[in-house]
Amino acid sequence: MDQVDEVKKRVDVVDLISSYLTLKKAGRNYRACCPFHKEKTASFMVSGEKQIWYCFGCNQGGDVISFIEKIEGLDFPAALNLLADRAGVVLEKTRFENKGVKDRNFQMVEMAQNFFSYILNEHNAGLEAKQYLTEKRKLSLITLKEFSLGYAPTGPLLLNDFLVKKGYKQEELMKMGLITKNSYGKVTDKFRERIIFPIRNTQGKTVGFGGRIFKAPKDERFTPPKYLNSPQSDLYDKSSIVYGLYEAKDTIRESDLVIIVEGYMDVISSHQAGVKNVVASSGTALTSEQVRILSRYTKNIAFAFDTDEAGLLATKRAFELTKFEDINIKAIVIEGAKDPDELIQKDKNEWIKISKSPVPILDFYYNSLLKQNNGAKSTEDKKNISKEFLPIIRSIANDVEKAHWIKKISSDMNVNEKFIIDALDKIKVAGETQRKVETKQGDSSVKLKISKELLLLIFLTLYPKKISDFFNKVKAEDLEEENSKKLYNILNEWQNKGAKLREEIDFQYIKNKMKLSREEQVDFDLLFFLALSFFDGVDEKDITLDIDLLIRDVLKNKKEKRQREIELELAQIDKVKDKEKIKKLLRELQSLI
Ligand code: UTP
Ligand code: MN
Repeated sequence: MDQVDEVKKRVDVVDLISSYLTLKKAGRNYRACCPFHKEKTASFMVSGEKQIWYCFGCNQGGDVISFIEKIEGLDFPAALNLLADRAGVVLEKTRFENKGVKDRNFQMVEMAQNFFSYILNEHNAGLEAKQYLTEKRKLSLITLKEFSLGYAPTGPLLLNDFLVKKGYKQEELMKMGLITKNSYGKVTDKFRERIIFPIRNTQGKTVGFGGRIFKAPKDERFTPPKYLNSPQSDLYDKSSIVYGLYEAKDTIRESDLVIIVEGYMDVISSHQAGVKNVVASSGTALTSEQVRILSRYTKNIAFAFDTDEAGLLATKRAFELTKFEDINIKAIVIEGAKDPDELIQKDKNEWIKISKSPVPILDFYYNSLLKQNNGAKSTEDKKNISKEFLPIIRSIANDVEKAHWIKKISSDMNVNEKFIIDALDKIKVAGETQRKVETKQGDSSVKLKISKELLLLIFLTLYPKKISDFFNKVKAEDLEEENSKKLYNILNEWQNKGAKLREEIDFQYIKNKMKLSREEQVDFDLLFFLALSFFDGVDEKDITLDIDLLIRDVLKNKKEKRQREIELELAQIDKVKDKEKIKKLLRELQSLI
């Protein structure tokens, strides 16, 4: 058996989801309020029979693995790993890296974290740092614990010696970036005299550290960098780790918004102030991979920007990053402070307030442009603004929004709308830089494409009374999709066997015969699930009517298809030679209309 099947067989979807949500029995299924969107009515359904889940509110669904992917924000292999652990299935190493080495590294990094945290909280060497954090930076002891802050002492080899004593080799420490070689080839601890910010993955396991100096350097000529960060390693993939996500993920989901700030301290202060849907990109500029990961939790991303040049640049970058994702970007504008942390120290409530009402990114961008160009007073200023902003208007996908901006810019710049529209037409859209900047609520990712014919076939599977009528009217070649044709033939074969004895056609039997890929299987399960829920408690009369209507639609499709074929044939036929054939085709065409 395939590893995926093995895991799926051992984990029951109802058990699994019950450990996250309170499920209530409803007919043959279970119901709950959907964890993936805000709702009051329970439209999230779980089927133990089919081992799948589906939310009618946000149209998402899947199997145990996709549930874990979504709720834990993991990719497929990681979700499979988590479930395998839960089910006690040992996955083959070839496919999922060398788990032993990885575990050992995780343990080593955790020991390093415990070491740093011990120094900060229990040791004299950490007193000054602790004072700095609690007094100067106003962090509470609870916050220090929550983010597992620590202190790396002066060293030079304290951590090295500690871990070597625990049985780790220097090579291992080097690989995780806990020690480094200086330019003379001498090995030292990487973090010395620095406050330590552990960086965690979404599972809450520490993968690396950021370390901040807090004392003025002894020698003014050699100013060390304010922050040092662990290097990229087997555990720490810089392009995908988001600082604070582990602590923030539940709140991000609940509030359907993630706020991206610049620094570790901004994340931590904001949490302490009660605004917990905040993350940072940790030591690098935000990457598209990080955006993709965040989009698993919410489609609404707000950047906490300064209204300065850097903020404008960051906005441009945000556009680039979200180009390929269906994401709404917004801005939280910080005024009168350098960053969220500084604002929180000044006026905590102001941060709480603005974090709740991000503005659309275009409003922010436009206002910043206005500010930067002296409120668009001179012709030169107007030109500058237009040059920057028109390409953006050009790329707005939503027509209403586009019209709004054309109107606004025409009135602010005091230029006739017609000129703006002309100018827009002249802007070349380079390659695919035309991006979606829609303000509509982001839709969920896993959408089902249900064709009428497939739905009809599934209805018939569950309600075989109408099957012979259907076979009389519709033939396999009348259907458009490969999977519908496949299902048609399976049902036909089933009926020819005279299998009238059973009321419902065996679902598993069909699945085996269809030979579907994993994705198709999940879609298929969902379709059945939908159809089943649909039939729950519905009158036989209504079911029959629905099936009749669907048959009519499919036949109408078939007719239209044939019409198009005939028209094509007529167009290509030799008008002199094939008179008879023309007549015949015309007659058939007539009968179809
Ligand atoms: P900032 O310089 O704005 O620091 O860098 P900060 O977060 O506000 O920290 P405090 O308030 O001065 O203590 C923002 C982020 O950029 C990264 C860090 O992740 C930091 O949190 N950074 C900054 C580095 O990686 N290296 C540096 O030398 C500086
Ligand atoms: Mn700061």
